[in-house]
This record gives sequence, C-alpha cells and structure tokens, in this order.
Amino acid sequence: MRVPVGVKLSAFALVIMGSYTYFANSIPQIESKPPAELSLEGGDVSPAQLVKFGEEIFHTKGTCEICHKIGEKGTRAPDLAGVGARAAHRRPGSTAKQYLIESLLEPQAYLVEGYPPIMPKVDKPPIGLNRSELWALVAFLESLGGTVDVKLDDIPKTAGAPAGGGGTAAAELTLPGDPKAGQALFTGKAICFTCHTVDKIAAGKIGPDLTQIAKIQTPQYIMAKVLNPAAMGTVPGYPKGVMPPTFGQMLTAKEYVDLVAFLLTLK
Ligand code: HEC
Ligand code: HEC
Repeated sequence: MRVPVGVKLSAFALVIMGSYTYFANSIPQIESKPPAELSLEGGDVSPAQLVKFGEEIFHTKGTCEICHKIGEKGTRAPDLAGVGARAAHRRPGSTAKQYLIESLLEPQAYLVEGYPPIMPKVDKPPIGLNRSELWALVAFLESLGGTVDVKLDDIPKTAGAPAGGGGTAAAELTLPGDPKAGQALFTGKAICFTCHTVDKIAAGKIGPDLTQIAKIQTPQYIMAKVLNPAAMGTVPGYPKGVMPPTFGQMLTAKEYVDLVAFLLTLK
C-alpha cells in the first residue's frame, strides 16, 4: 500500500516523540515490555537515536553545561570533546564504556588531574537521572570520538532515580533546618555575604556566586565545604585558602543546619 509522504512523516515523528517520553520516564517498562515498544519503524532503537536522546539530556535535565563545555575549556571542569576516545585510556583495565559509566555514577573514583572533586553523582538529586537517561547519556559521551556500544544492561540496576510518575522528586533531600534563619546567618553573623553573591540577598565578589549552588553541587559537598573548605578542593579561578575554615567552631549545630537548609534552597 502506498502512503502519502506527509502521513508517513508525521507517523514517524509520533513514534520518535513516543519513545522519547518512554525513555525519559520508564525503566522497568523498558525491561518488561517487548523491544517493539522501543522500536522506530520496526527496528531496535538505533545508536544514533540513543545519542540524540543523550545529547538532549546533556543540554537540559543533566545540567552538565553548568560545568562542562564541549570544544571549549571550562573553568570548572574538563572539555568533553573527544572524551569517547580518551575514556579508553583513562583507567588501566577499564574500557571506555566502563570509565564513562563510572564518571557519572562515582565521579570521585577517578579524578581528572587538575580538577577538584566537585562533580555530583548524576543519578542522585539534585540532577537525579534515571537508568534510561544514563544509558542515553553514556551513548552520547561515547559518540564524542569513540564507538557507541553501551547497552541498557551495562548501567547497574541499582543506578538511577526511581522511574515512573515524574520519578525524580521522590528522593529530594530535606534537612530539618530553618532556611529563613539560615538566610539571616548568611547575611549576618556567618559573614558569607562579604565574599559571596546570592541574587537579591548578597553581593560579595571574592568567592563564587552561590545563587544556584544547590543546582550544581550535592548537599554532601555543600555541607562539607562550609565546615572544611580546603578538603573539598578549590573552585577553579578562585583563590585557595581564602574561605575561612572556622565556621565549624563559629556556628552552633543548629545554626549550621539552618545555614545548610538555606543553601539547599538556592536553585
Ligand atoms: C559541578 C560541576 C560538574 C557538573 C554539574 C558535571 N560535571 Fe562532569 N566533571 C566535573 C569535574 C570537575 C570533572 C573532573 C574531575 C573528575 O574527574 O571528577 C568532571 C569529569 C567528568 C568526566 C570525565 C572527563 C574525562 O576527561 O575523563 C565526564 C565524562 C563527565 N564529567 C561528564 C559529565 C556529565 C555527562 C555531566 C552531566 C550529567 C556532568 N559531568 C556534570 C564537574 C562537573
Ligand atoms: C573571606 C571570603 C569568604 C567567606 C567569608 C566565605 N567564603 Fe565561601 N568561598 C570563598 C572563596 C574564595 C571560594 C572559592 C575557593 C574555594 O573553593 O575555596 C568559596 C567557595 C565556597 C563554596 C563552593 C562554591 C562552588 O561553586 O563550589 C561554597 C558552597 C561556599 N563558599 C559557601 C560559603 C558559606 C556558606 C559561607 C558562610 C558560612 C562562606 N562561603 C564564607 C570565600 C569565602
């Protein structure tokens, strides 16, 4: 049967959109439903399609560009151009695929020389990618100079935010602190405002702008940075040893928790 070209095209677009939503929202479904659910025009999802999904996640939900540029050296993180090729040689005994998966799930397991341990585990909040998103993202990273060979089964079953029903909000970390009290500390007794900018609240210029800090850093990092700045590395482009190491002594336990609760609202 002959189908007019327009009809064919829009049917194709629908299948693509359908599988994108499918990818973004589901993991168990991918495993339990027949592969036909994923197929475009009857075949399995192609590496090229997977790479496209991964690229989209890189630019949107993954928030990778806050730190990484492709083809341009960022101040915070390595240029990811060619990472699909060099991943094969990063860690003796690891294939490119294994290294890339590890860099997303356990970023501190291998630190690229000259960079601080600031990359968050991207399957945990606040980024919270699910397994199928991780799969696509690894395919995209492999495509940057390497061979796309990642399978869903390569992504550990334990990885990823829970799927389904919007998923990621479920694991949001909350602290018992009082963000309002924390804000007052930030702009008062704890003197953070003298060095840091937070939109509409503080305008310090000596340290990094913290307006979106909870979006780019994990709660663990933020908590540790306040108590022991040097142990968390130095943000590239900023002076070392300037952030005071004395907040642990200066703040009471309640003040510290309030302050962190405030910082976690900055996103
Ligand atoms: C808060 C900043 C930050 C964010 C956000 C971030 N990264 Fe990173 N990333 C780093 C830093 C710093 C390094 C180098 C230190 C290390 O190895 O952990 C790194 C290393 C990597 C590497 C290893 C590069 C190499 O040359 O070996 C990969 C791959 C990577 N990141 C991918 C991603 C992806 C994909 C995302 C988004 C889902 C992301 N990163 C989000 C900071 C970040
Ligand atoms: C005397 C100046 C100074 C004061 C006061 C100060 N900081 Fe900082 N802070 C810095 C500098 C400089 C950096 C970047 C260098 C580094 O990483 O140590 C930094 C880095 C940070 C970072 C990491 C930012 C990132 O992008 O990863 C956080 C979080 C932070 N400070 C929070 C605070 C909080 C909260 C307070 C108040 C309790 C505070 N700072 C007080 C100077 C200061």
